[in-house]
Amino acid sequence: LDGDRLVIAVDGTSGSGKSSTSRGVAARLGLRYLDTGAMFRAMTWWLLREGVDVRDVAAVAAAAGRPRIESGTDPVAPTITVDGADVSIEIRRDEVNAAVSPVSAVPEVRARLLELQREVIGDGAIVVEGRDIGSVVWPQAGVKVYLSADPDARAQRRTAEQGGTDVASTQQSLLERDRIDSGRATAPLTMAEGAVHVDSTHLTLAEVIDTIVDLAARAGAEV
Ligand code: DC
Repeated sequence: LDGDRLVIAVDGTSGSGKSSTSRGVAARLGLRYLDTGAMFRAMTWWLLREGVDVRDVAAVAAAAGRPRIESGTDPVAPTITVDGADVSIEIRRDEVNAAVSPVSAVPEVRARLLELQREVIGDGAIVVEGRDIGSVVWPQAGVKVYLSADPDARAQRRTAEQGGTDVASTQQSLLERDRIDSGRATAPLTMAEGAVHVDSTHLTLAEVIDTIVDLAARAGAEV
């Protein structure tokens, strides 16, 4: 590859398998990994902890510049910290699930995290997962994937991941986030120009990873 090194953008709906897939691809190709969803979750966790009303757009916008959010980029052991404290566990809680989509729709939140995301991506050699990576964060990405799966499959996977049993309520929460993420005015979830659509409903994780590694090879990555 000439100049900047490879960036693989993986966008898609909640629970489509973005994280497992992106981490697997990064590990296979010796690339770094960035989970931008974790950054929005960390911001949301911090707002809740500070007692900011997450439905109050002006209050969220005013506070968005305050937390220091840092992402570790090792695909085997990704980390996320807020003001130096590891919040990897806390950001997966139900309170965060319920508040993260409205928080993510606030333009000041997106602008702040966009800056951090571009800083981490730097000169590339990274797999980046999110909702707007191929469309807004890094439209020049060498590989763009739009990952989807049927809602039933997504709810089942996510419930199993969390060790829960209530597939119906998990599905409701996923679909609610999809609705807000796709409908917002700033950087909505959409299939980016040039993205390859991969439907993972009937594929194993290994098959999805193989598909993306193939795309990376065609884009010039050494595999
Ligand atoms: O990928 P995830 O489910 O952890 O993401 C949590 C939320 O963060 C998601 O519902 C919307 C928001 N998000 C976003 O708006 N833009 C991104 N690039 C990544 C996540």
